[in-house]
This record gives sequence, C-alpha cells and structure tokens, in this order.
Amino acid sequence: MPGRIPRSFIDDILARVDVVEIINARVPLKKKGREYSACCPFHNEKTPSFTVSPTKQFYHCFGCGEHGTAITFLMEYEHLDFVEAIEYIARSLGVEVPREKGRAKSAEEYKKQGGLYELMEEVNRFYQFHLTKHSDAQQYLAERGLSEDIIQRFGLGYVPDAWDNVLKQFAKSFSVKDLMDAGLLIEKDSGGQYDRFRDRIMFPIRDRRGRIVGFGGRVMGDATPKYLNSPETSIFHKGTELYGFYEARQYTRKLERLLVVEGYMDVIALAQFDISYAVATLGTATTQEHVNLIFRAVSEVVFCFDGDRAGQEAAWRALQNALAVLRDGKEIRFLFLPTGEDPDSQVRKIGKEAFEELLVSESVSMTDYLLEHMSEKYNISSREGKSRFMDEMSTMLVSMPDTLIRDQLIADISKLTSIEENILRKRQVNSEQVPKTQGFKRIQNHAVQKTPVRYAISLLLNQPSLVSEAGNPEQIARFDLAGSDFLATLIETIEENPHLNTAAMLERWRGTRYEQSIVQLLRWQPESTDVEILREEFRDCLQRIQYQAHEQQLECLLHKARTEGLDDIEQRDLLMLLRENSKEN
Ligand code: CTP
Ligand code: MN
Repeated sequence: MPGRIPRSFIDDILARVDVVEIINARVPLKKKGREYSACCPFHNEKTPSFTVSPTKQFYHCFGCGEHGTAITFLMEYEHLDFVEAIEYIARSLGVEVPREKGRAKSAEEYKKQGGLYELMEEVNRFYQFHLTKHSDAQQYLAERGLSEDIIQRFGLGYVPDAWDNVLKQFAKSFSVKDLMDAGLLIEKDSGGQYDRFRDRIMFPIRDRRGRIVGFGGRVMGDATPKYLNSPETSIFHKGTELYGFYEARQYTRKLERLLVVEGYMDVIALAQFDISYAVATLGTATTQEHVNLIFRAVSEVVFCFDGDRAGQEAAWRALQNALAVLRDGKEIRFLFLPTGEDPDSQVRKIGKEAFEELLVSESVSMTDYLLEHMSEKYNISSREGKSRFMDEMSTMLVSMPDTLIRDQLIADISKLTSIEENILRKRQVNSEQVPKTQGFKRIQNHAVQKTPVRYAISLLLNQPSLVSEAGNPEQIARFDLAGSDFLATLIETIEENPHLNTAAMLERWRGTRYEQSIVQLLRWQPESTDVEILREEFRDCLQRIQYQAHEQQLECLLHKARTEGLDDIEQRDLLMLLRENSKEN
C-alpha cells in the first residue's frame, strides 16, 4: 500500500498549476473583468454563471453551487478520484508524486472502522433474533400497526431487559473496546461497563451505503426517555445522517422528492403506506449538511412537522440552516400538520392519496413561510416593528447565496414593507451593529455584508500575506464570536505555511464543516487590489473584533457581578475591561 501524499506537495502543485488553463482546455472560458466565465459544465444553463478566478485559483457556479480547485474540477469533470487528479496535475507539471514513508495510518483506521460496521451488523442480527423470541415486543409493533414486511425492511429488533445482553454476547468475538467505540456500552463510575440499550425496540440507523452506524431504541411503555440513541462515534455523525435515506433510495423507483419528518415511527409508517421517500433527522435539528445531502439526491424537499410549537420551532431552525445552501432549481416546502397529529397518525387516518394531496395543496413555499413567520413575529405597521423586522431579515439575506430565490425574496420584502428594492440590496449591517470605531465605517462603505470576523477571514483568504498584521491567534480563538475559532485556525495555518494560495487553503478544508463558509466568503471580491489598502482594512477589522469581544466579555462579567458575584481574577478582568472601554470610547 503506497503511503500518503504529503500535504505540502498538494499545496505546492496547487501553487503551480493554473486552474484557468485546466478548465479552459475542457470548457472554453471568456474573460470577464478580473475573472473568467462560461456556461456551467455541471448543470444545464443558457446564461453563464460559472466563474473562474485566476487569482484565487478557484471556480464557482452561482447557479448550481459547484465549486473547487483544479483538483476538484478534474475529479468532477473527468471523473477521476483524488489521487488520480493529483497524479494528472503532477504529470502535466513534469513532477513525481512523492509518498510518505511507512504505512498510512488511515489504513489502520479504515480497518478498525470496517470492524465496527461488522460489529453493528451482528448486533443488529442479535436484536432481530430477540424480536422473534419476545411476543410482547412483537405485540407492541403490531399494535403500532407495523406489518411483518415493513419490520423486515427497516430491520427492527428488540433487546431484552438485562444489563449485559450485548456485553456478554460480543465481548469475546469483538472486544470491550470495540463495543465502547461503537457506542453500545456505558462506562460505570466504579469501573466496568453495561449495555446502553435495555428492554427497547431497536431501530438500526444506516448510512448512505447501507451500513449500520447507530441505533435508536424506543421503550414500549411510558418510561423515559422514550427514545435513546447511539452517541456520536467514529462512524456515526448525527448532523450528517438521515434516518431512512438508504431505505428511501432502495425502495423508491424514481426518487424525485424527499419528505423530512421528525420521528423514526413517522418514516416507517409512511413507508408502509407506500410513501417510501420520507427521512428523519436523528433527534437533532436539520443541518446544512442534511440539506446538501438531500439536494444531491433530489431537487425537491418537503419538511413535514407537527403543527404544535415544537414543530414550528423545528421548522424555523430547518429554514435558517437551509438558507445558506439554497440553490436555484431546488425547491423547499413546508407542511404543518393539524395540532396533535404526526405523519404516522395522519397517514393512518387519511391514507396515501390524501396525504400526498396534502403535500401538494397544503404545503407552503420556503419564502412564503419565511415571510409569514416574520410578519407574525414583528408588527411591521409600526416603525419600530418594521425596523426590527428588517434587522432580522438582513441577517438572513446576508446568509443566502446570490440566487433567483433571493432576488424574489427581496422583491417580496419590498412589496411588504414598501422599502425600495435597491435600498434593501444595499442595506447590510443593522443599526445596532454599526460600530463606533472608524475602521468599521470604512468596511461598511465598501458594502460588505459581513461581520468583522467574516470580513477578516475573507480578507485573509484573498490575501494571505495580510497574516503579518494578525497578532496572536490564541487570543482570537478565545473570543466568543461566531467564526473566531476559524479565523484563529486560518491565521495559524498561514503562519505555518506562508506560501499557501487560496486554492490550497480551500483544498485543506474541503469536506469539513468550514468548507461552506469558506466558499461563501471567497465569493466576495475586495474592491481594491492595492495591498496597502487591504492591509489597513484588515487592521481596522481586527480592532473591531477586539472591541466586539471586549463588549461581550464585559457584558458577561457585569451580569455575573450582579447575579453570582465575581472572584478575584474576574474582578481584575472587569476593571481592566472597563479601563480599556473608556479609552475606546
Ligand atoms: N427523540 C429522541 N429522544 C427522545 C424523544 C425523541 O431522540 N427522548 C427523537 C427520535 O428520533 C424520535 C423523534 O425525536 O423519533 C420524534 O419524537 P416523537 O415525536 O416523540 O416520537 P415519534 O417518532 O412520534 O415516536 P412515537 O410515535 O413512537 O411516539
Ligand atoms: Mn409518533
């Protein structure tokens, strides 16, 4: 097995290859200002929204959201894998691909993970076996109206009431460590372990490839908690898995839309009524990763929630997370069921046809839901209410990519508030955020719809050499501001690798939770190419960040002083902050 390709080599070829050249040889590009553009090779379009930046060595399609570096372009366009793409570029540059010595560590990890999948599969067979032996469990499922067929399809099982069913059965063929790593055991304070799941109906959770990565367990009576889920493990990440997704793909002839519901039982009941395209988040909010995953499979999603307050809240959270990953050509709708009903009870009451009819006639588009919710929340007929409405609305608009959906939304807001569209478009930072320091005013003049932290990140991504102004990343990491941890990481990374270009940085964070924000921030073009001007802006920005962080810390300390009281160190910090604050003002 060859060793890993050193990261420095990947950085190096990304610094030498020209993404414009690579793409232009396959998709002819036209120069447009500082960038190049073409009709997107990854989706059908008539007007070009695919742009390539020679300075950032990065491409991005405003239509479908595809983005990446020379490496990802070759992967997507030529259907190469990662290593093949690197080898291709290396050949074109006339260099050999070096390999790190020794066995790749990740191979060990793969093997370990392979073992965990096997373990989960066997444990599930064990649970299924116990279901055949326990008539009370079978009876429970029958009372819930589940057919034999559907129990099989979703692989349901049962774990009897004992502290060590799994421990006893699997500790020998696997190891206690594996059982712990798989999340099947809980460590006792006094040493030793016991089974996490006892006397529960077991729902295996499969990943996209059908491998079991976790379990949900439901009590049969009224005990609490009603559901118990596997914890996060090396193979189970709740924010990126959807219950029923694998089954939906397996059992739907042509998957065109997905229905996101709240519960395991909802997914299963719908499937039994031949609505096989429902999925559920795993007791968590719908994340951006979830929405991305869904949109890679289908172009329409309906979020289906109970009409009660919890359902409303879940819907609103889903909407907020979906905003940032919206794309034209993709549709998000919301369906609220009558209070007291969930999809399980509703489909049993009215059947498949009527339920699917609800999806069409009773669901609302995402933008309608957004505007309805916001107008209910704020009284826009008063000046005060309108201003607060606009504050929250601006934040949401800022988080949305530049799409037709966003344009339409702006037009709708304009109608609703009688504020002209171009004023809405120019509007960025809300009045409360308008900073006192000079630096931020300048940023505002540059029409940047971002917080100082985001602005600093995007400046650094565009012009890594600004890092010399950055100061102490550890201090920045301690600030409790959105994105400050990433800003700190970025500073450290550039300090350690001063030759990194923008593409190499993107490559580094590909597939991580930072990728989406990086891409979003990269789309911003500084208005000046003059490094001196950028440098000054960056400095102003850091000042502003420091100011924000101080304000926030001050707020916390003052609150604590009023409620619990402060210890000596906190007392000292407070005095220091107050002193600095008087200087800043
Ligand atoms: N959930 C959880 N932990 C709980 C309660 C709920 O993880 N203590 C998650 C489960 O994924 C569950 C979903 O939230 O499926 C929805 O919860 P709920 O509506 O209470 O359950 P139902 O799926 O409707 O289950 P049932 O019909 O069996 O009550
Ligand atoms: Mn239910």
